[in-house]
Amino acid sequence: MLELDGVTSGYGAVTILQGVSLSVGEGEVVALLGPNGAGKTTTLRTISALLRPRAGRIRFNGQEITRAEPDAVVRLGLAHCPEERKVWPRMTVAENLELGAYTVSDRTAIRDRMEEVFTSFPVLRERRTEYAGRLSGGQQQMLAVGRALMSAPKLLLLDEPSLGLSPLLMQQVAGIIRAVHARGVSVLLVEQNISLALHLASRAYVLSSGRVVADSPTRALRADKTMLQAYLGG
Ligand SMILES: Nc1ncnc2c1ncn2[C@@H]1O[C@H](COP(=O)(O)OP(=O)(O)O)[C@@H](O)[C@H]1O
Ligand SMILES: [Mg+2]
Repeated sequence: MLELDGVTSGYGAVTILQGVSLSVGEGEVVALLGPNGAGKTTTLRTISALLRPRAGRIRFNGQEITRAEPDAVVRLGLAHCPEERKVWPRMTVAENLELGAYTVSDRTAIRDRMEEVFTSFPVLRERRTEYAGRLSGGQQQMLAVGRALMSAPKLLLLDEPSLGLSPLLMQQVAGIIRAVHARGVSVLLVEQNISLALHLASRAYVLSSGRVVADSPTRALRADKTMLQAYLGG
């Protein structure tokens, strides 16, 4: 479904990704792991066309998107839920969700999708008219994911959904990702919480200094003490 082949990318004169190749299949949850500064966020930003690759190719659903514009990528079925959630605090829950459907003009489709999001996350229905800034951290994460789902993606890029949440809310995040997966959406998951990621994903890539240093089933990675200690904090 998604395929990166030798992607190089960075900021200004600085090259961060040094030829990253990875793939996500239909219906898969794949984790992208690695230490702080490894280039995980840069990888997601490059896939969603917020950064332009300097070399290599990106394909999604059989189409080349290497030089596509961000809104075109969203229309093809790729949604990005950014780091730190970034919901709009002075807008209501419903308004935040509507903005997630900015590429959709059909009002009926928007209403139907909002209903689907409310079915996955009932608390958002209860609080639909409240300002997003008044939601708890876990609820804001649901809203950020719900907003991404409003474009009806086939693949969701999820950047550190458990960041800053209490251990209790981690369970909620796991539930959110399972709910997304149950809807048939594939997920590329970036997580600092390694055990959460290894639990949810079937495969994982480990990124270090802009290079993929491991690509393995999570079952194998869980037993790989050397890899866990070298790159993932033990
Ligand atoms: N906007 C930016 N401008 C310049 N350098 C950046 C920018 N964003 C990130 N970087 C650098 O890119 C590297 C990778 O960052 P990032 O992709 O955010 O890592 P990760 O998400 O794995 O923690 C880091 O060295 C970081 O300092
Ligand atoms: Mg990051």
